[in-house]
Amino acid sequence: MPDPRHLCAEAVAREAGRLMRRRFEDRSSFSLSFKGHQDYLTEVDGEVERLVVSRLSALFPGDSFIGEEGSREASHSVWVIDPIDGTANFARGIPHFCVSIAHLEDYRPSVGVIYDPMRDEMYSAAVGAGATLNGVPLEVSGVPDIRSATVEIGWNMRSGPRSFLAVVEKVMREGAGMIRAGSGALGMAFVAAGRTDAYIETHINAWDVLAGLLLVHEAGGHVSDFLAGEGLAKGNPVLACTPQLREVLARASGIGN
Ligand code: IPD
Repeated sequence: MPDPRHLCAEAVAREAGRLMRRRFEDRSSFSLSFKGHQDYLTEVDGEVERLVVSRLSALFPGDSFIGEEGSREASHSVWVIDPIDGTANFARGIPHFCVSIAHLEDYRPSVGVIYDPMRDEMYSAAVGAGATLNGVPLEVSGVPDIRSATVEIGWNMRSGPRSFLAVVEKVMREGAGMIRAGSGALGMAFVAAGRTDAYIETHINAWDVLAGLLLVHEAGGHVSDFLAGEGLAKGNPVLACTPQLREVLARASGIGN
């Protein structure tokens, strides 16, 4: 029987996506600010997080929430939410962003849902049940040779330019093509869907990446041990890829486990 949290996460992600898309299409309807240098915040981020938390807490009153915009309470049954991943894209009118909802049971991802409202794409996974895109099963690319691979490398102000540029250089010297599209969650979803072959970032937060980690794992990919140490509270590096590229990318990125 399907996990009720899985079904509810999909329904709530769809509702959140509709709200986000409506606001995106009327960009004069929201204000914009910065949480830090190059760290965008729109009023829609808070609005979507409040919607997701209110829906899920009504359905699962015992659960707790960790969200990018404020909710920070962990328990053995916790939802981890990024209301808008790709906020800078959203703020600047670039239609590449999503809502990401993960559920952890006893510190292990049990459900991961990423919804892209502009493409109407629902990426969805439950532990042991596989990953799907709009209901169709997903599998990572299987690309065997780094010289024909496309790797997304995420960038942020937390780790600064030096570590980003070092990884870009090493990955490109191995012969891969490189992109950076500005949504870590969609970057992970694209690996699960075989649209790209790997996602790497030297530091990423749990809300950006947890749903994507389950998607890639369930689609047959390799994922680094993101939840090691204080990953849930403080973030960690991430490497997610088709298994054939694990060794070369672990070496190039220094993200080994
Ligand atoms: C950011 C995006 C970006 C990634 C950063 C994240 P936000 O999240 O996912 O692609 O490189 O690490 O912080 O701010 O758009 O939710």
